Amino acid sequence: MKAVVIDHYGGPEVQSLCDVPIPSPASGEVRVEVHASTVGRTDTATLRAHPFFARVMTGLFRPKMRTLGMDFAGKVDAVGDGVTAYQIGDRVFGISTDRFGSHAEYLCVPQNGAIARIPGDLPFDQAVVGEGAWYAHGTTKLLSEGKRCLIYGASGAIGTAAVQLAKANGAYVVAVVGSRHLALAESLGADRLVNYETEDFTAISDKFDLVLDAVGKTSWFACKPLLGDNAVYASTDLGPGWSNILLGAWFGITGSKRVRIPFPEDAPGFIRYLASLMAKGKFHGIFDQSYSLEETVEAFRYVETGQKTGIVVVKVR
Ligand SMILES: NC(=O)c1ccc[n+]([C@@H]2O[C@H](COP(=O)([O-])OP(=O)(O)OC[C@H]3O[C@@H](n4cnc5c(N)ncnc54)[C@H](OP(=O)(O)O)[C@@H]3O)[C@@H](O)[C@H]2O)c1
Repeated sequence: MKAVVIDHYGGPEVQSLCDVPIPSPASGEVRVEVHASTVGRTDTATLRAHPFFARVMTGLFRPKMRTLGMDFAGKVDAVGDGVTAYQIGDRVFGISTDRFGSHAEYLCVPQNGAIARIPGDLPFDQAVVGEGAWYAHGTTKLLSEGKRCLIYGASGAIGTAAVQLAKANGAYVVAVVGSRHLALAESLGADRLVNYETEDFTAISDKFDLVLDAVGKTSWFACKPLLGDNAVYASTDLGPGWSNILLGAWFGITGSKRVRIPFPEDAPGFIRYLASLMAKGKFHGIFDQSYSLEETVEAFRYVETGQKTGIVVVKVR
């Protein structure tokens, strides 16, 4: 099969398209004939081993995984011993969180992993929606009916997902985006829009239960005026001078969890929840450009610009 392979950390150019053996599903695993994948910020960060300490998980000297790609959508084409949840031919989607591997024509996933049936007849290239949504869920899960949140940078994969997940939980959502994304944020259900190019969002006279910086460009100090009692500030990045890590640790010691990096958890449960939202029409992916498997290096270069809207798809077939 064709797969995009890496042997060491570096920029997009260290990847090459190679012929490698088709994997066989182990006991309890399904093999997915991959039709669509994505290039997300997890892929670009993992390729560059950024931040450096991520190497503890991804491999100290060289990447443990030879092929990146977290999101997948495709058809089950083989099952290992003991698989009862899926059958050959099932249309599935999900995220391969530990092994990656979806920048390839086939990958194997545990049947109990982060995999679910694609709702209805949604095309494969519109079902690769897991990565950003999983990160967003790390903090939007704190929201319930009537809670108020502000989502800064509501135009990336995490931000567009966060608006929809917060609305699905019944929250009031203020979305902060640039001019070119105002209509998009409104279409996602945001209750109020702030254009960061013309308005200082930290000066709006409102208090929130959650401020989520979905693009890692602000700081807790800047957002403090927006935080109500017991409110949480969360950011997808480390913050200036790693301040989010340091503040997160400090507030952890003091017993309050006011600053968080939304490390996501329970990927299998989340993908099943996401599938249920998609089936009810409460969640859909926002897609930017798509690339072929042969163009994966170009897709990485584009994602690294930090300018994508929503999700960048790799059409594998
Ligand atoms: N380390 C990891 O493994 C990892 C994994 C996932 C995500 N992340 C972090 O999570 C963040 C979000 O990732 P993502 O995939 O959702 O999206 P992304 O690619 O970072 O988001 C791009 C979007 O952000 C907007 N944007 C850029 N600069 C902005 C600014 N100063 N203020 C507001 N919006 C701005 C861009 O539109 P405009 O410029 O037109 O406004 C674009 O639509 C990234 O910072 C990434 O580092 C890290």
